[in-house]
This record gives sequence, C-alpha cells and structure tokens, in this order.
Amino acid sequence: MNSSKSLLRVENISKVFPNGDEEKVVLSGINIDLAEGESIAITGQSGCGKTTLLLIMAGLISPTSGNLFLNGKAYSETSNDIALVLQDYGLPPWKTVADNIRLGALLQKIPVSDNELKNLKSQLKIEGLDHLYPHQLSGGQRQRVAIARILLLKPKLLLLDEPFGALDALTRERLQKLLLNIFRQRGFSFIIVTHDVEEASLLGRRIMVMDSNGGGINTVIDNPGFLSEGYRDTQEFFEQVKQLREVLKASD
Ligand SMILES: Nc1ncnc2c1ncn2[C@@H]1O[C@H](COP(=O)(O)OP(=O)(O)OP(=O)(O)O)[C@@H](O)[C@H]1O
Ligand SMILES: [Mg+2]
Repeated sequence: MNSSKSLLRVENISKVFPNGDEEKVVLSGINIDLAEGESIAITGQSGCGKTTLLLIMAGLISPTSGNLFLNGKAYSETSNDIALVLQDYGLPPWKTVADNIRLGALLQKIPVSDNELKNLKSQLKIEGLDHLYPHQLSGGQRQRVAIARILLLKPKLLLLDEPFGALDALTRERLQKLLLNIFRQRGFSFIIVTHDVEEASLLGRRIMVMDSNGGGINTVIDNPGFLSEGYRDTQEFFEQVKQLREVLKASD
C-alpha cells in the first residue's frame, strides 16, 4: 500500500429503480472507503447491483440517496480522474486500433508522447495491431486495447466491470497479472467487479460480497497477501478462495 489516504468514499448510497407500478431497491446503505493505491474486488450474484454501483461511482448514473467523495471532494458527475472499463470494451468499430487507443486522451486533451505509446503497447503486447479494426481483433486483444486507452488517461481510480469475463482461462490469467504489474508500477487504485471467486481473491486487497437481494454489502474480507509473488499457488490463496465461496453461498 502506498499510503492510507482516502481516495474514494461512498457514503450511504442507495438506488431505487421504478419497476412497473412498484419500486425495486437495488442498492441500500452502501459504504465504501478506498485508499490511494488500494484495490477492492466486488462480487455477488447476478442482478445484485454490482454494475449499478460501478456506474454510480463513475458518476454516470445518480444514486437515489447518499454521497460520493473523491479526494475528500463531493462529486456527482464523471471526472477525468475516474476511468471505467465496461465488459463490451466500448471501442468504436469504425476506428482503427491506433485511433481507438488515442481516442480518450484526445477527447480529454491529455498529451501523449510517441515513447509513452510505444511502451504501453509493448507492456500490453498489442504492438503491430495499429491498422486493424476492432472486429479484426480477438477478445483478449480488444480488451488490451481498451485497457491501453484507459491507461493513457492516467486515472487515479480505475473501475472495471467484469473486464476479463469473456476470455479463455490462460488469457485471463495473463491479463490479471498484467493489471497487477501495472498497478504496482503506477500506484493508481482500482475497483473490479467480478463473478469469479479466484479473480476476486487475486486482485482485491479487500473483497466485498454484496447481498443477492436488497443490495447491501454483506461481508468484507481482508486479503493482505494478494500482491505476493506466486500468490495463486499458495495455501493462503486456496483458503481465501474457499472462505469467499462459503460467504457467497451464505449470502444467497
Ligand atoms: N435502468 C434500470 N431500470 C430499471 N432496473 C434496472 C436498471 N438498471 C438495472 N436495473 C435492475 O437492477 C438490478 C441490478 O442490476 P445490475 O446490472 O446492477 O446487476 P449486476 O449485479 O451487475 O448483475 P450481473 O452480475 O448479471 O452483471 C437488476 O434487477 C436490474 O434489472
Ligand atoms: Mg453487471
């Protein structure tokens, strides 16, 4: 952990959606404190409100009640300090890989040097794809292009919604490692939403399990070993996954 300074504070957030003549409470009483340089994995059953919570934190939809703070300052709209990676990658199909990577930085008027671009592409192993269009890429390549675009924005907070869900096991493992490497080097904070108990245990300094109904945070699990070398193959990791699986079953 680089420091324990609070980056994001989610205070008593609730979200109620209209549901025909009734209302559906999707989130209630959500409190999260994310420190600078920390990561949180959020998991829970399908439909429990994970994506809704992420969109609220990104400032893209407003909560029914509650407050959000970034670096101690209240916010209610999108900010250049927060970047969101959605599951469908959000790459305009009519733009080449090169244009897609630069798109966000261009829109936010963030200068990008050729050297920075070259290093990032090499880190993400997406060199040589510049002239292709998104439909000509594999799922893993598309995901890495989407991540490159976001990293050029140098966000303080990265929000990821099941970013590796559609990938095969090995590609997924590679991208998880890559995310952790870049996280170590750059010191941003991230929140990842995932269905996958192993992914949550690998990537979250803390793991939050949401209730399947009524949208509170059921349990927070500490995961202090998550950055240690070879964690995936340790007994500690195995125990962590087992504990998380049991909590998930109990929260159903
Ligand atoms: N705009 C909306 N209007 C009405 N209901 C909505 C809206 N967006 C989401 N919901 C409802 O809120 C609940 C939570 O949806 P959300 O997408 O946040 O779940 P999730 O935990 O991300 O699920 P999954 O794991 O399947 O992605 C669902 O019951 C969904 O139908
Ligand atoms: Mg979702």
